[in-house]
Formats: sequence, structure tokens, C-alpha cells
Amino acid sequence: MSTKRISLTQYLIEQQRGEAQIPAQLRLLIEVVARACKRIAINVNKGALGDVLGSAGSENVQGEVQKKLDVIANEVLIEANEWGGHLAGMASEEMDDMLAVPNRYPQGEYLLLFDPLDGSSNIDINVSIGTIFSVLKHQGGPVTNESFLQPGTAQVCAGYCVYGPQTTLVLTVGKGVVMFTLDREQGSWVMTEDNVRIPEDTKEFAINMSNMRHWATPVKRYIDECLAGKDGPRGKDFNMRWVAAMVADVHRIMTRGGIFMYPWDKREPNKPGKLRLMYEANPMSFLVEQAGGVATNGLQRIMEIQPTQLHERVSVMLGSRNEVDLVTRYHQELK
Ligand code: F6P
Repeated sequence: MSTKRISLTQYLIEQQRGEAQIPAQLRLLIEVVARACKRIAINVNKGALGDVLGSAGSENVQGEVQKKLDVIANEVLIEANEWGGHLAGMASEEMDDMLAVPNRYPQGEYLLLFDPLDGSSNIDINVSIGTIFSVLKHQGGPVTNESFLQPGTAQVCAGYCVYGPQTTLVLTVGKGVVMFTLDREQGSWVMTEDNVRIPEDTKEFAINMSNMRHWATPVKRYIDECLAGKDGPRGKDFNMRWVAAMVADVHRIMTRGGIFMYPWDKREPNKPGKLRLMYEANPMSFLVEQAGGVATNGLQRIMEIQPTQLHERVSVMLGSRNEVDLVTRYHQELK
């Protein structure tokens, strides 16, 4: 193994000078987000010793109970980003409306969206959780919720940090996907994968099977065929994995392939899905596509959906190309 260590800073400076030509402000913004993720990782690791487990006694805009760590992670990201001068505003799963950068600080040209702590139900049981983020360019004028309503194709950067056995930061600035592992002794991010590729084929799916009776026909057909294994139309056995934190399930797919689905279901027919478009589905779709995978809502590419609300929900199917294409075809055939 080579002893040459590439840090996040070195990688970003190379992206500034090289093909991606990322502006210095975007580089600084990514460094600040990565620094905030380190602070969140420290809090996550303290667990019961740091009084960070359990409920915060409040609800977010989606009516979900906020955990203490949801609130802490949200505050860490805001505090880290509001003064640097690279942002015009921030939006978070944990805040009803967007947050403009306070007047006492200079305004930058970017918009940052995040799910500060994805997979909240895993916090107290010591299973992987993460932070997901997306960066857009502010199109000018006063910053409002509407400023954030840009399709995923407008993202200039997306990433996530998974707090698991290792703390890993996965990033794209539109030129492939790279992974960094947190070196705790040095306090630095070290590149551990420089060209993440999702295999086109897979034998592994991730979906909450307990919802099967609520699914639409195309999803049911796809999973039924996977379950039929070697004897069914697919002619191969499939395995199932479900961590119940999108960030961890997607990380597995980025590492060894697979398909992840959180489809529309009949429990709440008026909602397009459970997951949020702007700070969950879009950044993950950008990463998955940059790694050679596919991300759709069953009918169209997720990144081409024109958002109409900050906390909009969407049906999600993403991962290995041939599997996502197949389940998307099943949806399109029934259209
Ligand atoms: O953000 C919502 C989330 O925690 C995702 O990370 C995860 O994929 C999903 O909910 C799991 O939800 P459920 O357990 O209800 O299927």
C-alpha cells in the first residue's frame, strides 16, 4: 500500500486547479462542512457518556420527534457555516424555513441544504447514522425558500458523512466520487477511494419489506421476482440488507453495489414517498450517478424533478444501473 496520503484539502485544491475548476468559495464551503461533520462525529461517539442520546422533546416540520443528536447536528452545521462568507443561506430537515446568513456576516453565493442526522432511529441503538448535504448556487436577489427550489441537476456539490465503525466522507463536485476516512489521531480526512464505481449488476436489494402490502404493482412485481430467486424469471438468488438509515444503505451500495428503494406506498397515498427530495434524494442521486449508477422515482430521473417545496417528498429507487432500469421499466409499462 502506498504511504502517500491525500488529504481532503489537497484533493479540493487539486479540484480548484484542475479539470473541475471549483471556485475557492466552494472549496472553503466543503472544508467547513467536513469540519462540522468531525464535530458531529465526536458527539455521536460520546453516546450515553455525552448525554446526547434520546429525544429532544420537540418535533420537526415533518411531525417527526427530534432526537437530541438531530438538534445538536443541526446547530453544529449552522454555527460552522454562517460566518464564513461563502453562503447565502441554509435549509435543513430540522428547520421549517430556510435560514439566511445573518446580516453581520458577509453573504456568499452558495446555498447549503442538509439532513443533519439521517437515520435517527439508529442513534440510540449504536448503529450507523449520517449527515447528507447538497450545494446549489444562489441565483441572486433576496434569499427565500424559493431560492432553494432548483432541480438536482443544478447541484454543484453533494456528499454525505457516515458515522459507523469508521467515519467516512463521500463527496462529488461533479467529477466522479471520492471517499475520505477520518483519521482520528491526526484529526484529518484521508482519501481512501479515489474513483468510486457502482457495479451495473447486483444480487442485493434494500427495501423495508414490512411495507410490502402497501406497495404499488411495479415494486411488488420487482421484489416478487427477486424473492423467487434462481427458480424465478431473474434466474439468480438475491440477498436483502436494510439498515434503516438511508445514508448507511446508500453507502453499502456505493461500496459494493445494490439497489435501494423507498417507494410511494398506500399508507399515505397523497405523499409521493417518505424521503425528502432536496436534502436526501437529490444529493444521493448526484453521488450515485457520478459513480455510474441510476436514480429514479420510478418514472423519471430524480435530479430532473422541478421541486415545488423545500420539504418535498419523493419516491426513490437508486443504485446499480441494470436493476434500477428494470424496476423503472416496470413502472413505465404501467403508466
Ligand atoms: O430519513 C428517513 C429515514 O430515517 C431514512 O434514513 C431511512 O431509509 C428511512 O427513514 C427508514 O424508515 P422506516 O424505518 O420507516 O422504513
